[in-house]
Amino acid sequence: RYELYQPLRDRTLAMVFEKASTRTRVSFEAGMNQLGGIAINLNRGDTQLSRGEPIEDVARVISRMVDVVMIRTFEQTIIERFAAHSRVPVINGLTNEHHPCQILADIYTYVEHRGAIAGRTVAWIGDANNVLTSWLEAAGIFGFKVNVSTPPGYQLPPERAQGLSPRHFEAFTDPRAAVRDADLVTTDVWTSMGFEAENEARKRDFADWMVDAAMMRGAKPDALFMHCLPAHRGEEVTAEVIDGPQSVVWDEAENRMHV
Ligand code: CP
Ligand code: NVA
Repeated sequence: RYELYQPLRDRTLAMVFEKASTRTRVSFEAGMNQLGGIAINLNRGDTQLSRGEPIEDVARVISRMVDVVMIRTFEQTIIERFAAHSRVPVINGLTNEHHPCQILADIYTYVEHRGAIAGRTVAWIGDANNVLTSWLEAAGIFGFKVNVSTPPGYQLPPERAQGLSPRHFEAFTDPRAAVRDADLVTTDVWTSMGFEAENEARKRDFADWMVDAAMMRGAKPDALFMHCLPAHRGEEVTAEVIDGPQSVVWDEAENRMHV
């Protein structure tokens, strides 16, 4: 039922990428095009950021020329410094600490398949990374619970769960206990962008945190499986699960554009 809907005609989005992207780049650019505006893609290496121009100056300049900015970068403080010097809204397209656009898409995907997420249980298996932080922020807002299981030494830093009631967050040492009665099982790569030096150690330490068919059987029979992608089959998830009937990862990726 596609209908032309172009409220952003004559509007310009600038996208600043300091890390790689497939979904975020294409979803923002295609989405902006559908809404009637245009998107300018700026990879760090093509900009003066790579030659030491301060982020504050880049923010001042870009925000005088465009209507909205999306940034994917390393530390959250970088996007905060950009936003503090920007005249226009700044969207977080992923930092080391947060990935809010992903969780908007994930919740939308859950609602599409199963209805309201309030009162449901999400099991997060693996690394206590940026995507998990955004899940936890959403839990209090939407009223669901996140069961988190991470390997020893990779637990969620306590300050990131601060203020979350047991109705919204519970930590488990055993991943099989975390998925019990879950409505949604989700995971992500063991090594996020920017942490590549830890890759070999993480492969060893996370070996028991692979989501496989046996783990999915511990969740509710109609549980969904999600993964923000890109995925490493045979590491954090088996091919049987991500390519199997409970997986909704392709709808999840498409919904990045719709949200
Ligand atoms: N899920 C996600 O953000 O994908 P990209 O890294 O490809 O943008
Ligand atoms: N946690 C991953 C998500 C990629 C979309 C990373 O930061 O690399």
